[in-house]
Amino acid sequence: MSIEAWYMDSSDEDQRKPHRLTPNQPASMEQLRQLGVFHWKLNADIYETDPELEQIRKDQGYSYMDIVAVEKDTLPHYEETLKMFFKEHLHLDDEIRYILDGRAYFDVRDKQDRWIRISMSKGDLITLPAGIYHRFTLDETNYTKAMRLFVGEPVWKAYNRPADDFEIRQKYLASLQES
Ligand code: LAC
Ligand code: NI
Repeated sequence: MSIEAWYMDSSDEDQRKPHRLTPNQPASMEQLRQLGVFHWKLNADIYETDPELEQIRKDQGYSYMDIVAVEKDTLPHYEETLKMFFKEHLHLDDEIRYILDGRAYFDVRDKQDRWIRISMSKGDLITLPAGIYHRFTLDETNYTKAMRLFVGEPVWKAYNRPADDFEIRQKYLASLQES
């Protein structure tokens, strides 16, 4: 099963809106794979005991996990945090998110530096490679609950664009040449 993704328009309207082009210009799973973005569809109702999730965590070495609700009443510093999430940034490690409830958008840059919006809902697990420029937003439902996974001790530090001098960024760009 796949997730839906599309190229974004450039309007400054509410970030929580879909921002599709007219006509809609979809981005395929294959395009995402070429950017180093991977996706699994899981059964989020059984996340606590799911053997499939266990297997992925084992195979990928995702030893760390926690669960974050992104909503006004539970997320500390809600407004600022969401603003920060929507600033274009990269990390020195992979970003791995598993949507347990609600919905969200992850935007990633393609090779031509265009935004692709990835629509995530319950059961979608996504991995964004270290060094990819991306951002995150809630949609108009204003709620999601996500599992954060990480290899080893988690580092959530984000580097806002421009962050091209990092070795991992250069490595990522080099990997795009090959795909
Ligand atoms: C993060 C997501 C929101 O860095 O991109 O946590
Ligand atoms: Ni991020």
